[in-house]
Amino acid sequence: GQAVEEGHWTPDSLSELNKEMAVRTADYGDNFSVQAVLGEGRADCGIVVVGEQPGDQEDRRGRPFIGPAGELLDRALGDAAIDRKHLYLTNAVKRFKYVQHGKRRIHQTPSPADIKYYRWWLEQETKLIKPRIILALGATAVRALTGRSLSISRTRGAILPLAANRHLLVTVHPSYILRIPDAAGQDIEYDKLVRDLRKAAAFAA
Ligand code: URA
Repeated sequence: GQAVEEGHWTPDSLSELNKEMAVRTADYGDNFSVQAVLGEGRADCGIVVVGEQPGDQEDRRGRPFIGPAGELLDRALGDAAIDRKHLYLTNAVKRFKYVQHGKRRIHQTPSPADIKYYRWWLEQETKLIKPRIILALGATAVRALTGRSLSISRTRGAILPLAANRHLLVTVHPSYILRIPDAAGQDIEYDKLVRDLRKAAAFAA
């Protein structure tokens, strides 16, 4: 699976893009699941949310953000009074990267090469949707969207201009919040996530 070069093919619709992505990227890389998890949502969404890659549950069920991180995101969306149906949810990398340990599949962070490989497809998604704002959940999404590794702690909550008059809001990945050991620390980060979601919604309104 070679990355499709700009200009070789232009998708007419999101569904065509996503179908083509699943086929053309099928044989990329080691340690990736076979199934591609496609972006989900409407083509006229004002907010595109970009995660890292599908997790174990997402891979099994073929939908983005339906495992533990997705549950936390759903709760935060609810607290920010945002309807999930008003978003387009997708991932920087479209397949679950993992290593098998007995019965468990252990998540592997996508490499810069993996992010670069899938980048063209993410770019086409945002080109077709033309959202008011793109919300990046964590470092992989930020790298996919900017081509750089920006510090999340230094950029979170700020609205950054991207090329083609697009705007990016950086926040943490929900899995990061789930990994915080103490409940008080989790609450603080959760509240900041809700604040960032509200900010994205206000910008998109
Ligand atoms: N984490 C992500 O980044 N994306 C998903 O779809 C699920 C979990």
